[in-house]
Order: sequence, then structure tokens, then C-alpha cells
Amino acid sequence: MFHEPIDGEDPLNVVELIRKKREGKSLTEEEFRFLLSGYVKGRVPDYQISSFLMACYFRGMSEEETFVFTEVMLHSGETVDLSDVPGVKVDKHSTGGVGDKISLLVAPIVAACGVPVPMISGRGLGHTGGTLDKLDSIPGFRTNLSIAEYRRIIGEIGVVMIGQTSEIAPADKKIYALRDVTGTIESIPLIASSIMSKKLATGINGLVLDVKTGRGAFMQTPEDSTRLAEMMVRIGNHFGLETMAFITDMNQPLGMTIGNWLEMVESVECLRGTRGIGDASSDLMELTHLLAAHMLLLGKRVKRYEEGIALSKQSVKDGSAYRKFLELVAIQGGDVSAIENLDQYLLPRHIIEIRVREGGFVAGIDPLELGMTSILLGAGRQRAEDLIDHKAGIILKKRVGERVEDREVVALFHTDREEVIPAARERITNAFLVTATEPTRPPLIRTMIDKEGVHDWP
Ligand code: URA
Repeated sequence: MFHEPIDGEDPLNVVELIRKKREGKSLTEEEFRFLLSGYVKGRVPDYQISSFLMACYFRGMSEEETFVFTEVMLHSGETVDLSDVPGVKVDKHSTGGVGDKISLLVAPIVAACGVPVPMISGRGLGHTGGTLDKLDSIPGFRTNLSIAEYRRIIGEIGVVMIGQTSEIAPADKKIYALRDVTGTIESIPLIASSIMSKKLATGINGLVLDVKTGRGAFMQTPEDSTRLAEMMVRIGNHFGLETMAFITDMNQPLGMTIGNWLEMVESVECLRGTRGIGDASSDLMELTHLLAAHMLLLGKRVKRYEEGIALSKQSVKDGSAYRKFLELVAIQGGDVSAIENLDQYLLPRHIIEIRVREGGFVAGIDPLELGMTSILLGAGRQRAEDLIDHKAGIILKKRVGERVEDREVVALFHTDREEVIPAARERITNAFLVTATEPTRPPLIRTMIDKEGVHDWP
């Protein structure tokens, strides 16, 4: 925790530190601590931290500075000790994408296989969705648990999914909200330190990172995504947390749904095994099993990756992953009957079909445009205080590489907002690129990064 400052005795000058970073120089631990503690305590205003963050965005940070920045954010709040919970505790984190509902799948799968998963998730950021918003679509589900409840639940059922509490890395919580509205999200040291400060605070022993790359990701090129992944893997291992990462494709949405309840339905059906095998959601399940298998490896439940894949698939097949999800919903106050009767959920006022103009092959489905359009439909926030309509979103009927006929329906959208229908129709139609020749499909999984370096996958 930050120490109380002694009034009138600040040894440093905030403007000097902003200038120092603006000129590309490195800050010391004392200087970072002074800035961040001042910010958390309300002595340094938003406008000065915004300016500092913009200087970081343009000038970057050295590896040493990124470690220090992470450590200062980590120690701005409490760190949870889960050593009395048996087992190697493992988490997964994605850097953010469109239609990315993998946390809803891997958490119960890995827990059902015997490895505890204490998961801290975030809300939607920019055009990307957030696991917390998806969980909120289950009536009654509570993600704002105290640290005491978090500890109790992970001990009792081996899985818990919560949001960042005010006790965990409060400096990151405040800075993250400021970055969202000041154009300073897409910075490798800022993203890496933000994610890792929270993860290091939660008492886990292993972490698998899913670092997205492509048009729907914050890092759009594989080179930048690899640099981000390497930085997070280095931070994790520097602080004694076994960390590895995969670079995965975000040039089209993941799975077939975008929007909170729609994504919940797809996830539940995949957990039940009625979807995701040899159908349009199979990319989603391929990535889910890959990440789950590596969580099982880090959790020392299996010795080989192939064993992890087999165990992960088995937990879906024998129903144990779905049962674990129901247990999680119940213990966190959610309405289990909403999950067991997916079709009885409220329907939106409008369900609109999107047709391609001419037939051919789907050569692209722009995830950034679909992410932005789903916000327009009500599925995300334009301002921090906006309420989300959990029913709103987009259902895809095709994936990149598939053939379409003239005027075929390629997507549907759900909304209560009649006034946005014409714009949404146009934007979703234009998000589909149809060509006469068959395109090459982008690889779903590109590389794996661990403390030894970058490896081609598979
Ligand atoms: N997720 C985080 O937790 N922090 C970022 O900066 C970006 C995504």
C-alpha cells in the first residue's frame, strides 16, 4: 500500500517528471511511486497524469521502467495470498478482442479438470467486449465480490470470476479508466504493466496469455503483438509468476456471436458440447482447448500438451465442465434456470437480417467495425456511465473462407434501438468483404512465447 504523503513536503515536481518522460528519459522507482501515489490519493490531477501517459505512449518505457511501473501499481493495493488453497492456481488472460468469450469456457473446463482458476476479468474497453459484462448478462450474477468472498469461493469450488476490486491494484484501476478516454490504450508498456499488475496481485502461480493480433486487436500487427507478449512474459517471470503467451488471430470475430447474452448462449452451448465440434464455432473451441491444455500444464495436472487437450475435451464430453459452470453461476448468485433455459431469455425488439449483395467467398469480416456497431446496438458503452443492453448484438452466419450465394443471409443483429437500424445495417453489410476467388484463411494460432523465447505453433 502507498504510504500517506507528508503535506507540503513533496520532494518531486510533477511537471518536471512529465517533461522528463516527454524527452524520452527514464524515471526512477521513487519518481513513479511519487506520481502514482499522488494520483491515487487525489493530489495529482487527471490532466497531469493524462499528459504523462501520452508522453509514455510516444516515448515508451525501458524494460526496467516497465518492471518498476508494474511493481508500483501492484503495490498500490493489496496482494492476495492463496497459499492455503490447495493446488497450483492458474489463470488465463486475453488482451481483448471481438466475440472473445474464451474465459467463460476455459475457467470451468480447467477447474473441472482439477486445477483451481481464480480469475479477475475486465469490462469492455473500446470496441472490445469484457468478460464481466458478459457475466452480468446472467440475472443476479455478482462479480463485485470482496477479497474474502473470492478466497472462500476458490477454496470451495475451484473457480471464481470477479472484477478488479478497489483493493486490487487501485492505481491501475484509475489509470486504465483515464487511458480509455485519453487515447493512450495502445501502448505496449502501459498494456503490459496494467494487465500484469492485476494478475500478480491475485495469488496465482501460473498464467496463460492470449495476445490478440489483427484488425480487431489493440495491437494490429504480429510484430507489435509479439513485443507485447514478450514484455508480459518477461514481467510475469521476473516477479516469479510462470507466464506464457500465444499470439492468436483477431482479423475476424472469434466464434459466431458478439454481444453479452448472445456470447453467453454460444459459450453455454459449447460447454454442453452441443456446439463447437465441426461447426462454425469450432475455431472458438480449438483455441479454448489449446489455452486450457496449457493451463493444465502450468497447473501440473498433465505432463504433456496432448494429455491436456484430451482432458479438456473430455470435461466437455462428460458434462463436468458444464456442471462446474452451473456451480459457479449458483455460488456467485446467478439464476441457474436462465442458463438451463437459454431460449426463455428476453428477446430484443428488433431482429434484422443482413444479406450480401452478390455471391462469392467471404474474404473478410471486419471485427473492428462489428465491435463498434455492436456498441451502437446497445451491447457496449460509448461513455463510462452508459448502461449495457445485454440482449443487443450480432450473430454471424458465415466465417472467412466460406462460400455465399447471391443475397444470402450472412448475419443477424439484435437491438431495441430502432433509430440505429439503418446505420447498423449498412455498417454490418460493409463489414463483409466478398470476393470471387477463394481467400486464404488466416492462421488462428500463430506463435507461442515462453521464457525461452518465441516458437512457431504448432
Ligand atoms: N486490459 C487491461 O487490463 N489493461 C490494458 O491496458 C488493456 C487491456
